[in-house]
Amino acid sequence: MIVCVCRRISDRDITRHARAGMGFDDIQMELGVATQCGRCEGCARDIVAQCSPSNPVAALSQDTGFSSTQLDSSI
Ligand code: FES
Repeated sequence: MIVCVCRRISDRDITRHARAGMGFDDIQMELGVATQCGRCEGCARDIVAQCSPSNPVAALSQDTGFSSTQLDSSI
């Protein structure tokens, strides 16, 4: 999913950088997310927060590509 329309940056791009240990500011510098209109900043920050080591459940669901809802419906 495209998070930043201005810079054509996807949630996967942001997730990959966050998992590499980069914070929002570093990702912003690297990718340019939220550097034009700024509408994507909140969403981009949420994605980075979900990938932080302090939120392992969210990070796990992003690793597998399945949400807990998807896992429940496949049982
Ligand atoms: S949508 Fe990201 S800067 Fe405009």
